[in-house]
Amino acid sequence: RARTAPVQNGAKPWDALREEATGCRRCPLWKPATQTVFGQGPLDAEIMVVGEQPGDQEDLAGEPFVGPAGKVFDEAMTAAGIERSRVYVTNAVKHFKFEPRGKRRIHAKPGTGEIDACRWWVEQERAILRPRMTIAMGATAGRSLLGRAVTVGRERGRPLALPGGGEGWLTVHPSYLLRLPDKAKADQEFAAFVHDLRSAAARL
Ligand code: URA
Repeated sequence: RARTAPVQNGAKPWDALREEATGCRRCPLWKPATQTVFGQGPLDAEIMVVGEQPGDQEDLAGEPFVGPAGKVFDEAMTAAGIERSRVYVTNAVKHFKFEPRGKRRIHAKPGTGEIDACRWWVEQERAILRPRMTIAMGATAGRSLLGRAVTVGRERGRPLALPGGGEGWLTVHPSYLLRLPDKAKADQEFAAFVHDLRSAAARL
């Protein structure tokens, strides 16, 4: 499918969707955030990757996964032999949720109300791209895609049928790896993350 192929399934064109998302008011997170961070990548991607929400750097740049978690993600994708430039990358929640602490903005976990409000956008992105594989990184992305509470430890590493069609794959969020204080554990979890990414891509 070409990048500019007309959408045949009744979904809006991606550009129009992205434009509409800049003014999203579906939940209150838009107000303190700098901007909507929409998905990015080729529209004919076979793989879509869904994260949690933009972080501080993504909020400023307007692009997903450009900060510290993005660096881990890039390393894992390279280790898994998947080209990031061929993958569509997006987030379950499209505004940065944070708590101000002095001059810093500290990441705050999105609530179920925010995830469920923002689900509409992820569903639209999936309806347009119709990726063969959608990888959910972390429980927030899992909830967004499956429409129910998920536990990564219990459901990772196997194909999941997604509502509305397509196959999903659940794995950890790269930020989880950054939070592990023990180097041996972090290496082990990074390897498991890479294994999940590779296994998902092998389904294609
Ligand atoms: N973490 C995410 O889940 N998404 C980003 O875009 C950046 C950090």
